[in-house]
This record gives sequence, C-alpha cells and structure tokens, in this order.
Amino acid sequence: MADIDTLEKDITAALGAAADEAALEAVRVAALGKKGSISELLKTLGTMSPDERKTRGAAINALKDRVTEALTARRESLKEAELTRRLAAEKLDVTLPLRPSPLETGRIHPVSQVIDEVTAIFADLGFAVAEGPDIETDYYNFTALNFPVGHPARAMHDTFFLNGTRDGEPLLLRTHTSPVQIRTMEKQKPPIRVIIPGKTYRVDSDQTHTPMFHQVEGLVLEEGIHVGHLKWIVIEFAKAFFETDHVEMRFRPSFFPFTEPSMEVDIRREGNKWMEILGCGMVHPNVIRNGGLDPDKVQGFAWGMGIDRIAMLKYGMPDLRPFFDADIRWLNHYGFRPLDLPTLVGGLSS
Ligand code: DAH
Repeated sequence: MADIDTLEKDITAALGAAADEAALEAVRVAALGKKGSISELLKTLGTMSPDERKTRGAAINALKDRVTEALTARRESLKEAELTRRLAAEKLDVTLPLRPSPLETGRIHPVSQVIDEVTAIFADLGFAVAEGPDIETDYYNFTALNFPVGHPARAMHDTFFLNGTRDGEPLLLRTHTSPVQIRTMEKQKPPIRVIIPGKTYRVDSDQTHTPMFHQVEGLVLEEGIHVGHLKWIVIEFAKAFFETDHVEMRFRPSFFPFTEPSMEVDIRREGNKWMEILGCGMVHPNVIRNGGLDPDKVQGFAWGMGIDRIAMLKYGMPDLRPFFDADIRWLNHYGFRPLDLPTLVGGLSS
C-alpha cells in the first residue's frame, strides 16, 4: 500500500506548510473534500473483491482518521500561535502614566479670558455684545466719528491702509472699535447699551504695543444720560474686574474727536505709577447725528479700553509681544483652564 503511504506523506507535508486557517482549509478540501484525494481512494473500494475491500478499506479509513486528527491538531497550534502573537502585539503596560486629558493640557488665552470676564461684568449691568468688521472704511473709522477730512487727529492713529475701496471709501484695518458705535446706531434704536470687544490694528510695535491688539468699546445712549453715569460705570467695572473694593483711579481731561468732554482714566499701580486703561467721554452730537439719531433727544457716553493692557495689569504680564507668539510655555504659564468660565457668582478668575 505504497500509494497510501505516499499520500499520507504529501498531506502531512502540506499540513506543516499551511500557515493560516485558509491554507489549512485548502489542505482539508484537497484531502477530505468530495473530490479530495482520500475520498477518491474510498470510491475505488466498490470495484474490489470483498477481501481486498476489507484490508484496503480499513487502511484508507485509518488514514482518514489520522489526517482528520492531524488537521485538528494543526488548527489548534495555529490558533495558539495567533493568540501568542496578539498578546505580544497588544500588550498594555498598565504601569504607564495616564495621558492627560485635553481639558488638562488645553489653555484659554488670557485675552479670551479677559474678554469673557469683561462680558460677564457688563452683562450683569444690562449690556449686550455688538460686533463689526476688522476691515473698515475710512468713513466708519474716521469721518463718521467726527474726524474731519484732513484733520490732524487722523494722524494720531498710524493706520494700515488697504488697496481698494468699498462704497467709494478707502479701506483700512480699523484702528479702534469705535466705528461699531456708528454701525450699532444705524441698526438699533435707543436705549442702547452695548460693549464691543474685538481686534484693532495700528502700525506700532514695542514692549506695550503690537500691530494687532484688542479693545472693548462701550456705548450707552438714551435720554438723560450724563457724566455721572459714565463715572459710575467705569468705577464699578474696575472694582469688579480687579476683584477689589479699592481701586485708585484718576480721570484726566483729554481729547477725542468723537466725545465732548473727553477723559482718560488711569489706574494706580504700586507707588506713584499710573497706567492708562481707557479713553471715554460723552458722545459728540455730530457722532449721534452721523448715527442717524437726534442729539437733542438722546445723549450718552462711550469708552474704549485696551484689553491686552488690563490683562497685563491684572495678571502681571510684563511684555505684550508674547501674547501673540503662540509659545506653548507662555500659554501654560499664563493661560486659563477651559472649564473655569468667568462668572460673577462663581468668581471671575478663580
Ligand atoms: N477709540 C479711542 C482709541 O482707540 C478710545 C476711545 C476713547 C473710545 C474715547 C471711546 C471714547 O469710545 O469715548 O484711542
């Protein structure tokens, strides 16, 4: 029965070479399938004498049993090898430290934090938030704010002018948030109480000036508003923002084309040092008129405050330039945790 021996050797070799489940199945079909080599051998039994059939039959069936057994054994060892491989590949070192969650690593930029703080304070005083475009026209940035064409006050702002025009007006990057005063008056009827946080631009760069910086404008317009209201709001804001009842402030007379009278407000730092934080005043009648309202009917006040400035003051940052360097070490040091939203009840900067 040399043919049976040869067949067994071949099948055993094929089994040994089968490296995965699919190859193993192919070997099984080739041997035990309907047209498999062993099945074909069994079919030859019918043509044999009863004696021959007895011995050949027993031998072929024994081969079939051995092959079946070998298949099972090979399948088991393949499975085991696969499991060993996966255990090695998917090994988890539970002693490794946890990767910190984004909530732990992410930081809110101090400018965003201060805008949120300022917004929370003024929301509590009944102010809404208004916005306007960073790319403005000469009209909204200057003319409508009572800077006459050719007036030297325009030169106080080192303006980035852009190529092109809108509605026949030269385009520029707004030098202050004040143009949104006009845009708000055009859209909204008094009483108006808005704050306008946003980006502003000037050709300027040193330790306390960057070409892009942030302001928050304020505008209140309704009947009977006077300087007393303005002073009260500014003082209450400063107390709430600096989270103290003792803020020493000084209101100095100043000049802005869009307010009359105009003032600048300083805050006392250590010793005799004062730092200017905002400009303010009673909205000039021409500005109220340019906004489409009647200055004999509504009066109001406005202010413009440097957000970056008051952030530096409150959080002790000596230099403005790193605000915009996107240096992760600076952000980790001065940034705020994402879920610590400033609220008046929960604390502005807890
Ligand atoms: N726009 C002024 C500036 O950027 C700041 C300012 C002063 C805004 C007085 C006002 C204001 O609304 O009333 O220098």
